[in-house]
Amino acid sequence: MLASKRILLIIGGGIAAYKSLDLIRRLTERGAAVTPVLTRAAEEFVTPLSVSALAGEKTYRDLFDLTDEAEMGHIQLSRSADLIVVAPTTADLMGKMAAGLANDLASTLLMATDTPVLCAPAMNVRMWDHPATQRNLAQLTADGVRFVGPNEGDMACGEYGPGRMSEPLEIVAAIEAPLSDGPLSGKRILVTSGPTHEPIDPVRYIANRSSGAQGTAIARALSALGAEVVFVTGPAEVPPPDGVEVVRVETALQMSDAVEAALPVDAGVFAAAVADWRMASASDRKLKKSRDGLPELEFAENPDILKRVSGMTRGRPGLVVGFAAETDNVVEHASAKRARKGCDWILANDVSPSTGIMGGSENAVVLISEDGVEKWPRMDKGLVANRLAQKIAETLAR
Ligand code: CTP
Repeated sequence: MLASKRILLIIGGGIAAYKSLDLIRRLTERGAAVTPVLTRAAEEFVTPLSVSALAGEKTYRDLFDLTDEAEMGHIQLSRSADLIVVAPTTADLMGKMAAGLANDLASTLLMATDTPVLCAPAMNVRMWDHPATQRNLAQLTADGVRFVGPNEGDMACGEYGPGRMSEPLEIVAAIEAPLSDGPLSGKRILVTSGPTHEPIDPVRYIANRSSGAQGTAIARALSALGAEVVFVTGPAEVPPPDGVEVVRVETALQMSDAVEAALPVDAGVFAAAVADWRMASASDRKLKKSRDGLPELEFAENPDILKRVSGMTRGRPGLVVGFAAETDNVVEHASAKRARKGCDWILANDVSPSTGIMGGSENAVVLISEDGVEKWPRMDKGLVANRLAQKIAETLAR
């Protein structure tokens, strides 16, 4: 719920601006007060009249409108909100924000503010993939700007790929997380999830089995308690949850880099099934069957991300949670793993095929910490996630 929360909504000039009208409705019906700002380009797509009618507030448009300056200067306008949402965020707005330009009301507000900013990008897929946009994305993320989307799909321009603005309810979820008054609000938590794929050649890879279901459920549960979640995911079967910052990776090395970039965090939950090995050098051409027999594959060891983070002397998260997927002597092996990796808690589970846990909807875990061994009954992965999130909240509150 967003009762009494103030949101400054900057609407950029893109076809997705029509979705922002629905976004205003969704926000106001949840009790938020929405102050709309239209860029000049946005006025080509939606009218100030419809925006104001839905928001029930004046729409701000022009930096040099003296009446507005007399009523509420742009500095005050930018700071009186709990959150600034830029939806749609065009490539142009991202460029301005990353470069620190301030030549119209929207960009000036974004420069003048000390309020958290959430961007919902929308643009053509080539524009999103363009190195300049990706550079701007990296810069803005480093500056602390949060992103929701873009989603992948058919685009108004007839192309397919990432670039569609997130749906209004996804944006609402991303708005609710940092504004919620839950026990984890103000906490930043990293979750790794899914498998990693280690290429052998352009068409083959090695991987661990993992649907990503448990990691996704944990990220969702942490976010529901108000945490700001960075979700670093390999190519999982389950789509990532709404309202979290999603960083998609393919390999263990990329996951390791993404984890490093996400630090510092208050807690890290390492639910990913990281491949322990990669090819010493992946072939850039498809390996062909030959009369010389089987190909010789030379392996190299991947970094142990959990161990690396657990062993950090500076900037170690206050709580580090690892997983142990075992097929026998679960508690014994997982306790040894906890000691070896140096994490605070290990959630161990029996993944022998007979349990049906791998790829299934339920999990039976044992939580091992310095306090001992806690056996949880078999339950839905969502409930395991809720219980873990609750326990993390209690521990971080101490
Ligand atoms: N993990 C990691 N980086 C790796 C391997 C594992 O961060 N390169 C993390 C996993 O996310 C999980 C924990 O370590 O939280 C345990 O993973 P698991 O695959 O069970 O352990 P292994 O290190 O592979 O140990 P073993 O092969 O002895 O089972």
